[in-house]
Amino acid sequence: MPRHVSILLGESCDPLIAGAQSLLKRGMGPACLVDATFGGGGHTAYLLEKLKELQSAWPGLKLVGVDRDLHAIEAGRERFAEALNENRLELVHSRFASLLGHLSGRPLVGLLADFGISSDQLDDASRGLSFLGEGPLDMRMSQESGDPSAFDLLETLTQKQLETILWEYGEERFSRRIAASIIEARHRGELVNSTRDFAQRIIRALPAAHRHGRIHGATRSFQALRMAVNQELQEIEAFLAGPVIKLEPGARVAVLSFHSLEDRLVKQAFRDRKFFLSLTKKPARASDEEVAQNSRARSARLRVAERLL
Ligand SMILES: C[S@@+](CC[C@H](N)C(=O)[O-])C[C@H]1O[C@@H](n2cnc3c(N)ncnc32)[C@H](O)[C@@H]1O
Repeated sequence: MPRHVSILLGESCDPLIAGAQSLLKRGMGPACLVDATFGGGGHTAYLLEKLKELQSAWPGLKLVGVDRDLHAIEAGRERFAEALNENRLELVHSRFASLLGHLSGRPLVGLLADFGISSDQLDDASRGLSFLGEGPLDMRMSQESGDPSAFDLLETLTQKQLETILWEYGEERFSRRIAASIIEARHRGELVNSTRDFAQRIIRALPAAHRHGRIHGATRSFQALRMAVNQELQEIEAFLAGPVIKLEPGARVAVLSFHSLEDRLVKQAFRDRKFFLSLTKKPARASDEEVAQNSRARSARLRVAERLL
């Protein structure tokens, strides 16, 4: 079973089901409700359970789980073998930017996205996402993609480009010092493909008083580099301009963001009153109880909108 603990399950999924339910009377044939960030399958499991009744009244309605991580999709094929056999679920290996091409033109009657990485990806040292473990500086969500890894980026970025990534994506106030130290190490031929080495270099670049704070000193830099490697904000833009716009009128989209830049893109998109009725005037947050059980929920912000005519 995946270790990832899903966040704001009912709050994100229930409005989607209600939206799809309201479309039943239109007598549509085949249609899809998409979990665009399948991950450990937590939201998909919840949706499958809640969709039982609707799917028996509307046999053409499929839940489609999408992830750019092939490992997540393969693990999902085992976990959800029954729902796949019953034709209630499809699993698709894709990123947001190419998602629509996998739906064969079927109407989209609900859409969920839970951005970022899963705890299972974070825990797997071979993916290089954690500064706590030792692994290659990879950080790609799709390791099979042939895209440049974090180490490849560090070998090619200019000091200014690296500084901008650390500052803009990580809000790292010591971005200049860190970038200078990493690029110097590269020029000396000392930069190695190792998460531990990279984390230590970041810590050493910080002023001494900031090396051992409440939050690990490499947290922001790791997050920033991961966002650059996976082009996460560009993917969110593609998600908002593609699948979200293609939703059927009356269908809903629920988005969980973990970074202010992510939330800002979603907020701006949902502000367009020609296309959307925002159902969350302010983003919904996890309860104290949920945060106590899952610290990752602390930074989650949920926005839900309905696609208008
Ligand atoms: C936070 S996890 C989702 C967890 C899931 N909701 C659950 O309950 O188990 C995010 C997942 O989205 C995937 N992902 C992130 N960006 C993506 C993109 N642009 N296209 C497709 N999948 C993406 C990641 O690979 C990861 O598995």
